[in-house]
Amino acid sequence: MKIADLFKVDGHGVVITGGASGIGLGYAEALAGNGARVTILDVDAQALENETKRLQSAGMDVRGEVVDVTNHPALDKAIDDAARIYGKLDVVFANAGIDPGVGFVGDWVGSDRPRIPEGALENYTDERWNRVIEINMNGVFATIRAAVRHMKPRKFGRIIVTTSLAATRVEPAIGAAYMTAKAGIRNLMKSAALELAAFNITVNAIAPGYIITNIGGGHSKNPVEQKAVAKVTPMHRVGWPEDLYGIALFFASPASEFITGQEVIVDGGLGLGTAD
Ligand SMILES: NC(=O)c1ccc[n+]([C@@H]2O[C@H](COP(=O)([O-])OP(=O)(O)OC[C@H]3O[C@@H](n4cnc5c(N)ncnc54)[C@H](O)[C@@H]3O)[C@@H](O)[C@H]2O)c1
Repeated sequence: MKIADLFKVDGHGVVITGGASGIGLGYAEALAGNGARVTILDVDAQALENETKRLQSAGMDVRGEVVDVTNHPALDKAIDDAARIYGKLDVVFANAGIDPGVGFVGDWVGSDRPRIPEGALENYTDERWNRVIEINMNGVFATIRAAVRHMKPRKFGRIIVTTSLAATRVEPAIGAAYMTAKAGIRNLMKSAALELAAFNITVNAIAPGYIITNIGGGHSKNPVEQKAVAKVTPMHRVGWPEDLYGIALFFASPASEFITGQEVIVDGGLGLGTAD
């Protein structure tokens, strides 16, 4: 067995939600850069246009469609379109997600972490709660459902969900709705894996730790915040979308074909606690 065959994604028909930025864009680069045919679905029309053009000009087979994952009929249609264009749907990354804003204490920066009234349970608005659940949880459900309609008859599929380190443990600076949604899709991933295993469809999750992207208005691009996070991360650095290339290719390729219902945490050891 050669590595090139083990990690082969060449010719795969792939859909990535939230692929116009950050982690999803990294998945697109990893897959399309290795010969997969990738459709990026994203609500940000401008970023979608810029990034698909950039990847196309680098010779990658990438197309984009503007879709909001909360619009389930539009999501169904976009996934149907991709499957029709490719003649099949091999891999789906259910990745689109947002950061709802504050938790009940301040962010990563500084040792003084004051309580934030806006993020306290008694003040948590329905609007904030529902928006995160709609995108980060219901959007993932709808993406998996649409994908399965194409994968089940072919008895083949690879579904990869972006959960979070925050699906595995609670953190005071992250909004309660975010952690609830991520823990929810973690269990959805396992339940779907159980249901779909007999159809040769694997369902797995990638749980990033702290990765520099545009999420939450791009606060992670602040060097002061990055320094604070690197300090408490055992590997003493922050993560980048490139740090997820390997696990994305692994779950999308034959290398993982007997693995389902699993979540891999990619966090430089952050979830283990602070070492030094
Ligand atoms: N960055 C991190 O540290 C981190 C950690 C753990 C998990 N995650 C998860 O990774 C995923 C990707 O986030 P990211 O950090 O790359 O953020 P990002 O903001 O850089 O990218 C997210 C993309 O999703 C799109 N999107 C948002 N709402 C959408 C909707 N309703 N419909 C379609 N597209 C939508 C955005 O336009 C954007 O292009 C999210 O699910 C996030 O929760 C991120």
